Amino acid sequence: MKYPIRLLFFVLCGFAAHLAAEPGAASGEPKPIPPLMYGSAWYPEQWPEAEWDADLARMQAAGLNMVRIGEFAWSSLEPAEGRYELDWMERAVAAAARRGMVTIIGTPTDTPPAWMTTKYPEILRVAEDGSRLQHGSRRHFSIGSEKYRELCRGIVEQLALRFGKNPNVVAWQIGNEYTEDSFDTESRTRFHRWLEKKYGTLDALNQAWMTAYWSQTYTKWSQVPMTTGRANPGLLLEHKRFVTDTWRDFQRNQTEVLRRHVEPRQLITTNLGGLGWANRFNRQLVSADLDVISWDEYLGSGWFDKTKNGTGHLDPLRSGASHDLVRGWKQKNFWVMEMPPGFVDWGSVSNSLDRGETRAMAWHAVGHGADCIAYWQWRSALNGQEQYHGSLVGPDGEPVPVYAEAAQAGVEFAKAGPVLAGTEPVSEVAVIHDYDSRWAIEFNPFSNRYDQMQILIDYYRALRERTQAVDIVTPAMDLSRYKLVVAPSLNVVSPELAAKLADYVRAGGHLVLGPRTGMKDAFNALNRERQPGPLLPSVGARVEQFYALLEDVPLAGDWGAGKATVWAERLDRLAPDVEVVLRFGSGNDWLSGAPAAIKRKLGQGTISLLGSVVDAALMNELARRWVAETGVATQGVITAPAGVKVSRRVGAGREVYVITNFSKGAQEIALPEAMTDVLAAGGAQLTSVKLPRYGVAVLSRALP
Ligand code: GAL
Repeated sequence: MKYPIRLLFFVLCGFAAHLAAEPGAASGEPKPIPPLMYGSAWYPEQWPEAEWDADLARMQAAGLNMVRIGEFAWSSLEPAEGRYELDWMERAVAAAARRGMVTIIGTPTDTPPAWMTTKYPEILRVAEDGSRLQHGSRRHFSIGSEKYRELCRGIVEQLALRFGKNPNVVAWQIGNEYTEDSFDTESRTRFHRWLEKKYGTLDALNQAWMTAYWSQTYTKWSQVPMTTGRANPGLLLEHKRFVTDTWRDFQRNQTEVLRRHVEPRQLITTNLGGLGWANRFNRQLVSADLDVISWDEYLGSGWFDKTKNGTGHLDPLRSGASHDLVRGWKQKNFWVMEMPPGFVDWGSVSNSLDRGETRAMAWHAVGHGADCIAYWQWRSALNGQEQYHGSLVGPDGEPVPVYAEAAQAGVEFAKAGPVLAGTEPVSEVAVIHDYDSRWAIEFNPFSNRYDQMQILIDYYRALRERTQAVDIVTPAMDLSRYKLVVAPSLNVVSPELAAKLADYVRAGGHLVLGPRTGMKDAFNALNRERQPGPLLPSVGARVEQFYALLEDVPLAGDWGAGKATVWAERLDRLAPDVEVVLRFGSGNDWLSGAPAAIKRKLGQGTISLLGSVVDAALMNELARRWVAETGVATQGVITAPAGVKVSRRVGAGREVYVITNFSKGAQEIALPEAMTDVLAAGGAQLTSVKLPRYGVAVLSRALP
């Protein structure tokens, strides 16, 4: 090299080295989000840096293409107030990139550090019984604390400035699994201000809640209690909405900072936890402010019996319904940010998933619209509260048995990713899940036999068996895309919602209203016109009386025959064009011979009301009838034996089927047409597939 050129070379090298050392200097083309992102929670702050690459190499060998880091690392990122140490994280992101992995950064706001909670004890959460949380666990902050929000902005801004242009960072996760709300004085004051903003005057609140009842009348905002006990139904519902808004504000406090500094290609999400059905707050509303939804899927076979969570085996029906519920919050594909590699540590018995089940669980999620699967967690932490939890490598960094299964899925995901890109489940049927209604019924179930989530699943199951795709959506979502909408337990119906539903029907939609419809208004007060409240003029019938059943009651009519169980409503036909399609049998006291279900044409569509919970056989018959009568497409539906789950994703000119066998033995499934075996080398054409227990097939076909 000639002297001046050599000089230039050294100057350039020096400049490059300087860039490498400079915060925020990572450069290069931004990495795209892999079509099927596959990763794990990784905690580099818990391990010597010298061990990072060995961990990352093992991840790469398992086909992982993403790490999620940082969500509990506040004390490592800001060890003292205002002293930020972000270099290690930048080195971790770079180390992952060298192994072909993109990074999702979690903001660490689930775990405020000890210097912070001792200096600002007012940021600590207060439980409903008035006790203030201590440092030493997580989720010990108050979502309502302004000081805490300021501290969150501080760290999030530093992270955003440092990583907002980093080409290897593809997304941000705000906090971790929003869970507990707080009952501290500041939060109570917020509640009062929130009520004042909503109601304007105490008179309006007193009237909406009918506080003359039991002398609850309020003369000052500060008198309104904040409680989840046996309080006024109006108050209880507003508290849930307040908690929802508080989480939204808490989240917005961070998303605003991120959106100011990070490139828009870096998506913002949060990992909504607590199984798909958790309802501490309205998760659809919280999701509305995010770019993509992610949630954490753990064993949910015991959703309705919390003591069973984390124990047992995957219940594909309920797991599938959870995915569909999550997908419904944005009517878009979603990410699973956490899945257990085999087992958790918090079940009543934290048993392991069987051989093959972890992989089948991941594929099952993909079939329902997951575009990302990530495990919690990569490596067993030596200490801390979750030492026993499932991981892919042990504390020694060496693979545990389930690693090989995850690696198999890694190879398969790499093959299937490009085929799945641009596809999503497409459904013409929706089941409505409404938070307001769910809370209203939960505050006063009236019968402990009325399990509203089980009832929702009864509708979902029967409809999905016929269509292989059902969306679960809140009433706020776009309904016009569905031919058939069913709404079990839609208890709270405002005039606005009634108008939206009636418009949907008039425009050609078919709506089936289930038990407990329209009993309550938006303040959780009884609708004066009785059920179905403001929907009554559209339905042309009303509920004369509802009955919590101790014994089944037969019913029969044009819609078939079967039994009313758990709940029955005696209907009264008000308009002459209303058809009675089911009646209760005679000899059944108040219900004898009365209409049990009605149907009416309205505009281009139909509206029906079925006020009873019905047995499974009748529900199957009803689903068959509704699907046939409303013209919901069933072509392409693969008939599968019990326990075999079929999901279909459509887009980019093709359809992709994901078939998972959760039955006890091997099964053979006939395909309606020849399809390409996506996972096999060479992409063989198949007309049937044989699957062992927990076997998976991914099949594709070009759309005509
Ligand atoms: C999740 C949480 C993770 C980890 C995991 C254990 O709820 O987000 O941080 O605790 O549970 O199963």
